[in-house]
Amino acid sequence: MSFTVAIDGPAASGKGTIARAIAEHFGFAHLDTGLLYRAVGKKVMGQEDLLEAAVKIADALTADDLNAKGLRTADVAQAASKVAAIPQVRTALDRFQKTFSKQPSGAILDGRDIGTVICPDADVKLFVTASAQVRAERRFKELLIAGENVTLAGVLKDVEIRDARDASRDVAPMVAADDALVLDTSEMSIEHAVAAAIAAVNDIRALGKKHHDKNHII
Ligand code: DC
Repeated sequence: MSFTVAIDGPAASGKGTIARAIAEHFGFAHLDTGLLYRAVGKKVMGQEDLLEAAVKIADALTADDLNAKGLRTADVAQAASKVAAIPQVRTALDRFQKTFSKQPSGAILDGRDIGTVICPDADVKLFVTASAQVRAERRFKELLIAGENVTLAGVLKDVEIRDARDASRDVAPMVAADDALVLDTSEMSIEHAVAAAIAAVNDIRALGKKHHDKNHII
């Protein structure tokens, strides 16, 4: 029987690292759904008619496109956030994600709308967050290591613009599902955050221990 974990949250909240660790721990397949939007965003950069191009590209996207080089840059992140607000783009990417989530070995998907739209019946839902300042500092370090020419103030502004766009769009905005467990990693080491997330999945998977209060904090 399949088992699905949905992880949502804003940029650089730690959700990707946590998702990879849960996948490895439980032997689940992992999909970073941000890569779908990044792949579309990268391909439309510089095109005149963003909407028409983005829909065509999203319709034709293949799994290979997720391995393209240069998907992690700050420019591609902004382009991804823009194309992600186009309803037809989201529809085009919907089936791939839903099919992925039903793998017999279990699946974990991380993104912005996994617990609300893609996998509303997920066995475990986590909403991973952190303050904008902390997230900007994390992303700044990653981008510096990747050789990008960025400033902390610039990265903070980018994070805030992207959060606002992702949270305020009409279709599938970034929001915690009512039944998502909330993990605030602002003052946690990544090891601590990973351990808390694994324990939460284990509580439900092995012990059937569900929390029934809205957005229970773990
Ligand atoms: O998770 P990320 O930073 O790689 O995502 C890049 C952008 O893609 C993000 O700003 C919003 C969009 N996105 C989305 O709208 N829905 C998802 N499930 C995943 C990402």
